Amino acid sequence: MSYLELTRTRAGDNQIKIHGPEAFEGMRRAGRLTATALDLLTEHVRPGITTEHLDEIVFEFAMDQGAVPAPLNYRGFPKSICTSLNHVVCHGIPGPRMLKDGDILNIDVTLINDGWHGDSSRMYPVGTVPRAAERLIDVTYESLMRGIAAVKPGGTTGDIGAAIQAYAESQRCSVVRDFCGHGLGRVFHDRPNILHYGEPNEGIRLETGMLFTIEPMINLGKPHVKILSDGWTAVTRDRSLSAQFEHTVGVTDTGCEVFTVSPKGLNHPPYPAA
Ligand code: MF3
Ligand code: CO
Ligand code: CO
Repeated sequence: MSYLELTRTRAGDNQIKIHGPEAFEGMRRAGRLTATALDLLTEHVRPGITTEHLDEIVFEFAMDQGAVPAPLNYRGFPKSICTSLNHVVCHGIPGPRMLKDGDILNIDVTLINDGWHGDSSRMYPVGTVPRAAERLIDVTYESLMRGIAAVKPGGTTGDIGAAIQAYAESQRCSVVRDFCGHGLGRVFHDRPNILHYGEPNEGIRLETGMLFTIEPMINLGKPHVKILSDGWTAVTRDRSLSAQFEHTVGVTDTGCEVFTVSPKGLNHPPYPAA
């Protein structure tokens, strides 16, 4: 491990870790594994299947690959993935609920490979979904991609949030404020927070070597959420539909590298029928 590989902090930058080429190599492998699990799930999401079953698929995939599902036992979370259905914003717990035609499901996978975290989520339509749900999914994916396009050294976290917020709101959707993207690497949730709303040129200045997620949660209705009594499941207060996509990125000299791109080109729906 080189000196650069060790945690380097800068007083002016709020103690955000700057990573070198070996970390990028580790994140590339972890990100690819996570994306491969999300690819595998496209074949399994259909009416009649339970979210618990999807959890088992990812757990077994992780075991086969010698990887660890980061959510399992994380702060008491009971499962290997998060499954967030319809008006669930995030952190839904897999269970016996059967998927039905017209549902929209977010599956969030974080795998630890060789110590590095790959964190990514995608939306999965179940059968045929209402046009409004399809539109929300498209708006949310485009919001994530606009956030990613704003990442470059010298830019700020506020540039990312502003790009996401401007697009989502221009499409008459709202941005959830209660959850944000996060730094990651050898730890799951680290500085900086990546807000999905904000003002250009505000927040933390981005530098080559920073690693973080961007994971906008976008609602068809109002942005407000509440947490259910299980202590995890976040839902929209107005019960409007919510969608999310997440990628893990690393800042490079020219912009960023996205570690969790789908090896099969299944980054967003529609996915080829199983
Ligand atoms: N993967 C989620 C994220 O994007 C975090 C899940 S933590 C859990 O940050 F405990 F809810 F699983
Ligand atoms: Co995340
Ligand atoms: Co995640």
